[in-house]
Amino acid sequence: MRIVVTGALGHIGSRLIRDLPGAFPGAELVLVDNLSTRRRCSLANLPAAGRYEFFEADVLAADLPALFRGAHHVIHLAAMTDPAESVRNAAAVDRVNLRGTELVARACIATGASLLFVSTTSVYGSARSEVDEDCPIAELRPESPYASSKLAAERLLGALAGDKGLRHVTCRFGTIFGTSPGMRFHTAINKFCLQAATGAPVTVWRTALHQRRPYLDLGDAVAAMVFLLRRASFGGELFNVLTLNTSVSRVVEALSPHAPDMRVEYVDSPVMNQLSYDVDCRRLEGLGFGFKGSLEEGIAETMRMLRATAGAGHTGREIAFP
Ligand SMILES: NC(=O)c1ccc[n+]([C@@H]2O[C@H](COP(=O)([O-])OP(=O)(O)OC[C@H]3O[C@@H](n4cnc5c(N)ncnc54)[C@H](O)[C@@H]3O)[C@@H](O)[C@H]2O)c1
Repeated sequence: MRIVVTGALGHIGSRLIRDLPGAFPGAELVLVDNLSTRRRCSLANLPAAGRYEFFEADVLAADLPALFRGAHHVIHLAAMTDPAESVRNAAAVDRVNLRGTELVARACIATGASLLFVSTTSVYGSARSEVDEDCPIAELRPESPYASSKLAAERLLGALAGDKGLRHVTCRFGTIFGTSPGMRFHTAINKFCLQAATGAPVTVWRTALHQRRPYLDLGDAVAAMVFLLRRASFGGELFNVLTLNTSVSRVVEALSPHAPDMRVEYVDSPVMNQLSYDVDCRRLEGLGFGFKGSLEEGIAETMRMLRATAGAGHTGREIAFP
């Protein structure tokens, strides 16, 4: 089997590429990343059992049909992923997340590979208190250019399936927590952990403390992708993928035993709103997939990793992981 992973060196990809050799023994793994987030470190100490090829390539410019030749599956993770940053950079986000996904999808059609596309639960932003995959498009309120670009890409894949026979499955991931070699700290839980571990105030969006949102343990994220590849059904299915729905106040509570002196500071953000909602993931669970992650364990693991780093000399308010 040959599997291509775009955005392979990022937060999610760097864990996924370590687990794929165990899940699909003997598989050839083609890793594609343009290094825009400078995660070359994700290539260090890859499992010896893996058969890897790395291509430093941009999905907007590369000869994707050549890269995908012979591939059974393409897992498309490459994206510009910071929702707050996307407000300042909407055109670039649209180019990578929408046009880039279109080029990946067209290369899948050309080569016969099936596509696993990773979208986000932030496409919901719904006024309903609980949403599932059947939530009508008219009720979706993506809160940032990032989320809008992901929703547009989902719709484009639907059209390419109808017109050109694209075989694909889409996962809407909750906000990731948990560690990986290419870990980033721009999403809520990981950012709070980094702030708490370095003695900086934990910055919570003013409106967000009691709002409920979906979060996804990184181990569960990888297991869900493996599950869907093994299931091998690429008829345009859509799945919410999340470990739990919870509030920022519970996240802060789970963090506090690891940082007793933690201070919380309330800040404004261009993408905050008044919405609070739970996302339903029973469609995926109904197929037999079980979520195993835990918020408390994910935070404990992240804090252990950050404390070990702080012990190596990065202490105080310095942000050691740009
Ligand atoms: N992390 C989350 O909380 C989360 C939640 C929901 C969905 N997702 C989605 O999962 C996917 C992976 O997220 P992540 O957290 O690993 O993000 P990340 O930013 O850590 O990784 C993205 C990777 O894509 C690469 N990349 C960016 N533009 C590229 C391009 N034009 N060509 C090739 N490579 C490019 C970057 O260098 C980076 O290594 C993204 O599509 C993201 O939207 C992430």
